[in-house]
Amino acid sequence: MHSRQSESLSRKMLKYHFFFILFGISVFSCSEKEQQKAEPILPPNQEAPLTILMREMYLDMEEMKVSVETGKAIKNYLKKHNGILTARPTDPKVKDMSFDLMAKGYMESLRVLENSPPELLLANYKILYSYCIACHESKCPGPIKKITNLQIE
Ligand code: HEC
Repeated sequence: MHSRQSESLSRKMLKYHFFFILFGISVFSCSEKEQQKAEPILPPNQEAPLTILMREMYLDMEEMKVSVETGKAIKNYLKKHNGILTARPTDPKVKDMSFDLMAKGYMESLRVLENSPPELLLANYKILYSYCIACHESKCPGPIKKITNLQIE
């Protein structure tokens, strides 16, 4: 019984460590931008096109959330969001094959969502949301907490 307790304790410790490692990664990859955001005035040319697009995608997804919650059709965002495939990121290293795959998956899910019959709006919204989270988990964990505001239970 004793050993069981200490085993679960060390598991908990491991989880904590894992959390801090993840936190550390997010601080390195995205916190600089978080800090910049807090500063009031920044010339727009200091921000990468992908950063600016992502902020818009966040706002658009807020709009989609309202549409889904009120059972309305989704507006058309395909053209704007397609920039995810080409927009320059702050850190060029994020643009690798897995980024492209997730970006294409994101665009495909957006297309499906925009063409959803009403009864599939919620399910398709959730799939789109999962692409936001999946890419962020591997490429840019910093904004995940903010993105979870877009989740529909
Ligand atoms: C294919 C990968 C990918 C997908 C899909 C993706 N993101 Fe991002 N996102 C990124 C990367 C990379 C950055 C960092 C951008 C930069 O500064 O270069 C970012 C940055 C952000 C930011 C921070 C912008 C800022 O102010 O610094 C927010 C918010 C965000 N994304 C929200 C979303 C939302 C909401 C979705 C889904 C609708 C989404 N992202 C889908 C990769 C992705």
